[in-house]
Amino acid sequence: MLSTAKGFGGGKVILVGEHAVVHGVPAIAAGIRRGVTSVARRHEEDLLHIEPWGRTFRPHVDGEEPLARAFERLLSSYGDRPSLRLDVRVDLAPGAGLGCSAAIGVSLLDAVDGALGIRRPRAALGTVALEWERFFHGSPSGIDNVTSAMGGLLCFQQASPVRQIPPARSFALVVAHSGQRSSTRDMVARVAQQLAERPSSARRMLEEVHALVITAEDALLNGELGALGRVLDRNHAILRSLRLSTPQLEVLCGAARGAGALGAKITGAGGGGCIVALAENAENAVRIADALGAESFIEEVSRAA
Ligand code: MEV
Repeated sequence: MLSTAKGFGGGKVILVGEHAVVHGVPAIAAGIRRGVTSVARRHEEDLLHIEPWGRTFRPHVDGEEPLARAFERLLSSYGDRPSLRLDVRVDLAPGAGLGCSAAIGVSLLDAVDGALGIRRPRAALGTVALEWERFFHGSPSGIDNVTSAMGGLLCFQQASPVRQIPPARSFALVVAHSGQRSSTRDMVARVAQQLAERPSSARRMLEEVHALVITAEDALLNGELGALGRVLDRNHAILRSLRLSTPQLEVLCGAARGAGALGAKITGAGGGGCIVALAENAENAVRIADALGAESFIEEVSRAA
């Protein structure tokens, strides 16, 4: 047992395919640099402390709290072990479509693994974190936890091996927050209800998103950013037709396009949270971020070496 061990789980943005990915379609996500850091150390009892939320959970005392229950379940997967204190620092807005809950789970597992001297590949860490995600989102596809653990640009499909995508050109993403928080569980349920009510249009929609994912992967591999931007715009229109947009998200997407974004869309569950806009380079990204006038950040994606 090491004295302390640090773990990390990254946030993510989905470029194409959120929601459809819950129904078996592939999706493309990009890991982002900001995320969640956890430090594990030996302690007289199991304890989870989360900053900047100033919240402390003791699994045996706070059993009704979903975070305490998820934490207890996570620790119980390790069998015999000393009691542990986990100090978590969250640098992602919760309920914003950036994979905050998955990043917490991945960083906790990473830190506990380190403290107990367990080594496992990042892909396995992401898979194990799915159980943590289920506490918060009911039936998640697994894209958030896998992207959080692995980072990079990847194509994810349930029950298939995840694939890294080496982009032929560098580009930048502008991520802007609508200021509204939303619940992934509720948005996933909203989509599932619409798909159940309209099965034939649902099938057509899922087929179209699948085609968009294929186009997006080709565009990334060939450095065709214009084509990628058109995929983002079309995917946004589909998400809007599923009642996942809001007036604020529409304003942000419109402003991003007006400022030169090659495409812009909701990212993640929608119903609030963030948009992602595609910029040709970092300079354009700064111009777009300035025009949005919202809480935003820029993520640069480098071409494969
Ligand atoms: C949330 O980041 C992405 C969704 O597709 C849900 C999931 O895949 O679990 C909305």
